[in-house]
Amino acid sequence: MAITIKDVAERAGVSVATASRVLSGGRKVSPELADRVRKSARELGYRHNAVARALRHGRTSSVGMIVPEIGNPFFPSLVEAIERTLSDSGRDLLLCDAQQDPTVELRRARTLMARQVDGLILIPVSASASRAALDEAASQLPVIQLDRYVKDYLGDWVGVDDALGITLAVEHVTSLGAERIAFASATLECSSAQQRLKGFTDTVRRLGLLGSGSRLLGEFSAEWGRAAAQKLLAEPSLPDAVVCGNDEIAVGLLGEFRRAHVRVPDDVLVTGFDDIRFAALTDPPLTTVRQPHEVIAAECIRLLGARMNDADLPVQRVAIAPSLVTRESTGAAS
Ligand code: RIB
Repeated sequence: MAITIKDVAERAGVSVATASRVLSGGRKVSPELADRVRKSARELGYRHNAVARALRHGRTSSVGMIVPEIGNPFFPSLVEAIERTLSDSGRDLLLCDAQQDPTVELRRARTLMARQVDGLILIPVSASASRAALDEAASQLPVIQLDRYVKDYLGDWVGVDDALGITLAVEHVTSLGAERIAFASATLECSSAQQRLKGFTDTVRRLGLLGSGSRLLGEFSAEWGRAAAQKLLAEPSLPDAVVCGNDEIAVGLLGEFRRAHVRVPDDVLVTGFDDIRFAALTDPPLTTVRQPHEVIAAECIRLLGARMNDADLPVQRVAIAPSLVTRESTGAAS
């Protein structure tokens, strides 16, 4: 009779989840409990074999995740939150980077499916070109879209309310007297860029400020932030405020304004989006839209778990409210 994780747990006097966490290296367990589990496994001759478990139960207790660009500091923060939440339930995370390329994204999805992950978390590179990876994965295993989504795809999604985040930023700078507001963000390849531009356009129209400032669309990067600043510096006069589509753009823009001796916030207000770890360390510290990683991650794992248990559940799409963090780049006292 094969020795199972249940036998190990009973002999060690712990739960199966705790025994699984110890033997799969999941979330930290007290040294005393861990020693008891390992001693029990040794005495019983138990081998914690993920492939054997997959063969027995058709599950590997692992979840795959594909992010568009691991180099953007927003994504590692979200991955950390997802990994913590998963390991609490004794599951492992297998992470892949799509390198901002839908072709790579499809290859990574196939790799994860070959590794027999129990489910897939996909942050689509593109609102259109990522449909191929999404369709193929969803035909074989439970999938949830996180943060971004593929256009016209009826499937589970959870992410921040992008448009609301930009509305918070625009209303904040107008409350400080800004009338000419520029928008520096990414081209409309992904859903978050699309929704942030929509949030900007709808809000400035509602406030009677439509057409007040330039819309500069490039990519979610510091390089684009520098380029956007150069374009604004070439205009006859600076806007009162620049609302940026993410923090990396804002970081690049602040650096270029500093080089041009433009004072932030005295000459121009600047806001970001994401609240990455460095947002508080920029000069001046950046007012930005905070994405609640832990809440988003918990909702993602909850939805994916529900889908793994019942493939016929109604589709759920959950937009999580962001919050505005005010710092010196819009004049808030530190
Ligand atoms: O910084 C990259 C942006 O793209 C983030 O705001 C995140 O929401 C992702 O969609």
